[in-house]
Amino acid sequence: MRVFVAGASGAIGTRLVPQLIDRGHEVIGTFRSPGNAGRVRALGAEAIALDLLDARAVRKAVLETGPDAIVHQATALADVRFSRNLDRSFAPTNRLRTEGTDALLAAAREAGVHRFIAQSFASYRYAREGGPVKTEDDPLDPNPPAAARETNAAMAHLDQAVTDAGGVALRYGGFYGGSNDGLVKPVRKRQFPIVGDGGGVSSFIHLDDAAAATVLALEHDRAGIYNIVDDEPAPMRDWLPVLANALGAKPPRHVPRWVARLIVGEALVMMAESRGASNAKAKRELGWTLRYPSWRQGFIAAYRQPESIEARA
Ligand SMILES: NC(=O)c1ccc[n+]([C@@H]2O[C@H](COP(=O)([O-])OP(=O)(O)OC[C@H]3O[C@@H](n4cnc5c(N)ncnc54)[C@H](OP(=O)(O)O)[C@@H]3O)[C@@H](O)[C@H]2O)c1
Repeated sequence: MRVFVAGASGAIGTRLVPQLIDRGHEVIGTFRSPGNAGRVRALGAEAIALDLLDARAVRKAVLETGPDAIVHQATALADVRFSRNLDRSFAPTNRLRTEGTDALLAAAREAGVHRFIAQSFASYRYAREGGPVKTEDDPLDPNPPAAARETNAAMAHLDQAVTDAGGVALRYGGFYGGSNDGLVKPVRKRQFPIVGDGGGVSSFIHLDDAAAATVLALEHDRAGIYNIVDDEPAPMRDWLPVLANALGAKPPRHVPRWVARLIVGEALVMMAESRGASNAKAKRELGWTLRYPSWRQGFIAAYRQPESIEARA
């Protein structure tokens, strides 16, 4: 297949392109930042510069390259500064998830491209009630904190628009395994505490496993929503100390929920109540197997240096 990967230079894109090429696909990879053409080419793809917010440029790129499939992996999260207002931090990404998705879908329709996959997100979205692990059929949070409403709405828009068009929305867990993983710096600096009793559940996914699931979703071509997460959704009190240890950092601090609310705001405190996601559907329908079934092995594989393993032995 000729596959058009929007966001080929990003954390997931750079893992996905080589896996697609290994499977015999041809890849057209887009980048946004000047200077990333070489990065995309080095992965084996044809590189094109593209701003997904420029609908005319999107149309032209898709019509000129004539792909069989489109994969939307564009976000704008590199070096993002998280503030109390999650929506402000996510504003450019929200536009990529709404306007960017719509532009790609319109171009796909016009070019007769029937296979379409887009990046969505599983963690912190499901209703914060009932059991700790949610399937794709479970309801999303009907009442997200005020500062996260636009972000949740943008993801809901993407899920709906893509599946309405017969495509696949992949709700990934929290990515790790890349060079710029977001949790590394704050955990190393002990700036990422366990909130309250640490009972909020998160789902993670190693970037290599996320890319493998994406290739399978593309090849299976079954429309719908899939949680792409590992086998072990876990409460913060379990995974955060393991992550700190893998990074060689001191154990995380604990802060009461009311203190966290004052410091980081309501939107980030929803982590304290969040539910995890089940990967049963992706395994069953896509035949997906994970290289890192749990963050327990994955964090160590991603972060622990070989010399420190020897030093600890
Ligand atoms: N599920 C998750 O947990 C999740 C999801 C997404 C990201 N993240 C994390 O966020 C951090 C940053 O992610 P990242 O390294 O992938 O960087 P990013 O800034 O989110 O970029 C992702 C991709 O989107 C492209 N892009 C950005 N703006 C665009 C635009 N207006 N039009 C078209 N394409 C655009 C980027 O191109 P250029 O690189 O050329 O600018 C890149 O290819 C990483 O730590 C990553 O793991 C986590």
